[in-house]
Amino acid sequence: MSTTAVRQDRPGAPAGTAVVSVRDLSVVYETEQPVTAVRGASFDLHRGEVLGLAGESGCGKTTLAYAINRLHQPPARIASGSVVFHDRDGRDVDVLALADEELRRFRWAKLSMVFQGAMNALNPVRTVGAQLDDTLRAHDRSLDRRSRRERSADVLTRVGVDPARLRSYPHELSGGMRQRVMIAMAMLLEPQVMIMDEPTTALDVVVQRDILREIVRLRDELGFAVVFITHDLPLLLEISDRIAVMLRGEVVELATAEDLYRHAAHPYTRRLLRSFPSLSGERGAFVRTGETDDPEEQR
Ligand SMILES: Nc1ncnc2c1ncn2[C@@H]1O[C@H](COP(=O)(O)OP(=O)(O)OP(=O)(O)O)[C@@H](O)[C@H]1O
Ligand SMILES: [Mg+2]
Repeated sequence: MSTTAVRQDRPGAPAGTAVVSVRDLSVVYETEQPVTAVRGASFDLHRGEVLGLAGESGCGKTTLAYAINRLHQPPARIASGSVVFHDRDGRDVDVLALADEELRRFRWAKLSMVFQGAMNALNPVRTVGAQLDDTLRAHDRSLDRRSRRERSADVLTRVGVDPARLRSYPHELSGGMRQRVMIAMAMLLEPQVMIMDEPTTALDVVVQRDILREIVRLRDELGFAVVFITHDLPLLLEISDRIAVMLRGEVVELATAEDLYRHAAHPYTRRLLRSFPSLSGERGAFVRTGETDDPEEQR
């Protein structure tokens, strides 16, 4: 029998209001042979939801995440579309039109990102405390030293790291702890959205799942929305409210975890579900077989 639990309780389940609206977003890499890495993506990220983003390597997940945070660099170019952030205070922010200084204030404070391979993103010659402090100081000059230290200690505690680690250098921490510090950094300014791009793939699977479950618990407590990018579809089914599936640059399906698991609409999603042994134990119950040659997938 499958041990995979499809999430049904969803305590932080969204009321349906959008915190980010992506419309017709296309991103092209202007290389010798231009590559349209994201093609006409349209979806809403709901306030407080966990949205899983799945799809095979190279389908455009990281490119999409970067564009939402406007972190894309040449040769990547936004070819069309819009990204609007709906602030808690009622203001709408056209992310793709922000001036540099506004963008600097927006990132981390409103929407933060934990990068693919983030474990190695810390500065090796500065302590954890100094790096958290830098981020706090850069965004909020009104905080004194003591409040900044308290905030840093608090956020480390929340992600399960002893605040004594503020004095540690990254090399003194295990991979799991470094990962947790990066997540603490992303949570530091209490953003309304956190995007995590395969935040823990370099880690032991058990450590990885522990960390992700804790993030979901923090989400329940603090109410931010999370976009999780991972190849681990069984994990997404467990922790996500909704799941988006990408195939060759397109979002081909977006459904609640339960709907996706029980009656996926797109043949590629069904194939993806079947590719996980832990899910396929129940495949007869929800997956029709034989779609691999489906023309819809071959487009
Ligand atoms: N800097 C770049 N220059 C040119 N093409 C790129 C660049 N970065 C990514 N691409 C192309 O864009 C497409 C999408 O890549 P992306 O990294 O977004 O995929 P992904 O879904 O995140 O993959 P993975 O699961 O392996 O992380 C791929 O075809 C890739 O080759
Ligand atoms: Mg990627």
